Amino acid sequence: MPIHSSPTGWVLETRNTAYAIGINEVGLLTHRYWGARLPFVDDYPEPFKSTNFASTDGFHHFVPEEYPGYAGTKYIDPCLKVTFADKVRDVVLVYEDFKVTASSSPTLDLRLKDSFYPLHVTLHYRIHEEYDLIERWVTLENLGDEPILVERVFSAKLTLPPGADYSLTHMYGSWSNEFQMQREPLTPGLKVIESRRLISSHRATPWFTIDRNASEENGEVWFGTLAWSGNHKITAEVTEFASTRISIGLNDWDFAWKLMPKQPFVTPAAISGYTQNGFGAASRIFHDYVRDEIIPHGKVLHKILYNSWEATLFSVDEASQSKLAEIAAQMGVELFVMDDGWFHGRNWDNAGLGDWWPDEIKFPNGLTRLTQNVNALGMDFGLWVEPEMVNPDSDLYRAHPDWVIHFPTRARTESRNQLILNMARTDVQEYILGVLDELLADHNIAFIKWDMNRGVSEPGWADAPGDQRELWVRYVQGVYHVWGTLRERHPNVIWQSCASGGGRADFGILQFADQIWTSDNTEATSRLRIQEGYSQFLPANTMEAWVTDWGKETVPLEFRFHVSMCGSLGVGGNLLEWDQADRESAANCISLYKDIRQVIQFGDQFRLISSQKNNFSAMQYLSKDKVEGVLFVFRTHIPERFNIPTIYLRGLEPDALYTVEGFDQPRSGKAWMEAGLTVELKNLQSKVLRISHT
Ligand code: DGJ
Repeated sequence: MPIHSSPTGWVLETRNTAYAIGINEVGLLTHRYWGARLPFVDDYPEPFKSTNFASTDGFHHFVPEEYPGYAGTKYIDPCLKVTFADKVRDVVLVYEDFKVTASSSPTLDLRLKDSFYPLHVTLHYRIHEEYDLIERWVTLENLGDEPILVERVFSAKLTLPPGADYSLTHMYGSWSNEFQMQREPLTPGLKVIESRRLISSHRATPWFTIDRNASEENGEVWFGTLAWSGNHKITAEVTEFASTRISIGLNDWDFAWKLMPKQPFVTPAAISGYTQNGFGAASRIFHDYVRDEIIPHGKVLHKILYNSWEATLFSVDEASQSKLAEIAAQMGVELFVMDDGWFHGRNWDNAGLGDWWPDEIKFPNGLTRLTQNVNALGMDFGLWVEPEMVNPDSDLYRAHPDWVIHFPTRARTESRNQLILNMARTDVQEYILGVLDELLADHNIAFIKWDMNRGVSEPGWADAPGDQRELWVRYVQGVYHVWGTLRERHPNVIWQSCASGGGRADFGILQFADQIWTSDNTEATSRLRIQEGYSQFLPANTMEAWVTDWGKETVPLEFRFHVSMCGSLGVGGNLLEWDQADRESAANCISLYKDIRQVIQFGDQFRLISSQKNNFSAMQYLSKDKVEGVLFVFRTHIPERFNIPTIYLRGLEPDALYTVEGFDQPRSGKAWMEAGLTVELKNLQSKVLRISHT
């Protein structure tokens, strides 16, 4: 059992790491340790003592309380802030008892309660021993008679070992430029990474790493994420006594929750880990965990899809889509997805959202004939929807103008000519569930791309049963409820999460979606950088990547294919304009991808040379048994006489012999890793080289 309890507290052990908590001499639940697993349970430090330290600010800036409520002289960033019915805004948590539940992922529950008020707080810890991960979440219960207003409730506080010189890495971005890495020293004060947009957002990914001089392959990295698809907040605080702590949870900005008697509130889960093997190992831990434990169809090999969006935009109809499907099938595509434009009144982005039945003019025979055509070509059929949205010019909005998120006295700000249906409302959930259920029941649909194309404005909910500001959470819960129910009713459908590209890429949505549309930016050289950021926390099988015509004047088709082959390959160009040579080249790349996709989608991924930092980059994938691998090499633009960098392979068996395509002699795994290899490329050339155990 990886959970040990003793008079000094609890030690949670995973395969290589440990996390320890204890109760100190004044009864405070404090953090003790987070790092490498130690030989003996008694090796872990005692809880930090409160009485050892004197300061005019009290001990809270130094003593790392495991889950601080806002109270007394705690000027540190607290995890919990509430207002009790009598207006007292001070929460004093005292330890009550604990419970250990044995299972393959055992849990520890630490129960705390307020010293005066009927507020109970349970800290949950689930150990994912094999993955070196700990999942944490919190349950609040009101055991009294009057509501308690919760204004902040984080999922976890994570304390780093005492000391300075930590660096924080996080990802920022914007539409078409997601997952850009930012690494910076942590200095005294509070650094905040957050989303206020109702979705996890392009701007701030709910993910972080903290390191002390780590590299891709070496060094200590503490890392974490929040399994949540709405407003999130990560804060990194260095107090004046060099105590470094991370908070992670729901964003408290504009948030409130009326905690009613006997109606518990459960936070989303924060998942965190520690490794001594650099950023690459941190990513691979998350990749395995996501594939094995989170994604519903995590073990299903993804089909190569074609998506119509960049080819036909809103101008879809039975004939044009059938023609594209024919060419796609000849090239070896396995799944044909019709994107936006197919439903009632949808000729541009200003009308139709909400009316989810086939447009009578574009599809006089409904969708059945098109799906039959696609199936007859040997491909599955997939469809785009954007169920959370409505255009004011739609039958749905005309019937239910009150269903959108709005303040009654304010204009409803449109973005892309659309408003957001309030997914927190049960009538809205039922409507969406009904139309999508019918669509799936009536057609042979194997794949749904679920899009969400705007951030929130005027976040009002006039007839909310509780506090209006519960919208931020109840909306996401509503999306999860609808999506989860549809999954249960249609278990064989593969789902893709899209939010104007990668605006909703997080562990929360991956409980429902099998893959993510990474970015609307399909230009291959920018895409390389976006994909590298994505790989920091999500595996290649979830990363949908299409080959399109964007940049075709300068970037060869083969290069564009190679970039997309680093994830779950798709094609999105206008095939009607591809000549025979293009189609043949595409067919060759697709055939190669079919041979290597098992390794790409389910193997270990190694970022050998960063595309965010270099114009010559390399990415390697290796099967779990280390027998088969693939090396991708890309040169975007470096001046002609510059040296080609040496590439050092990773993860191979040191003493086994391997061949690398294009190199005559087999060499030991150690030689490929230590002496490396070079691949000569000109600007805008790329190569895919297979690695094989001889
Ligand atoms: C935004 C998505 O990211 C695109 O791929 C496409 O589906 C459009 N929406 C359709 O409106």
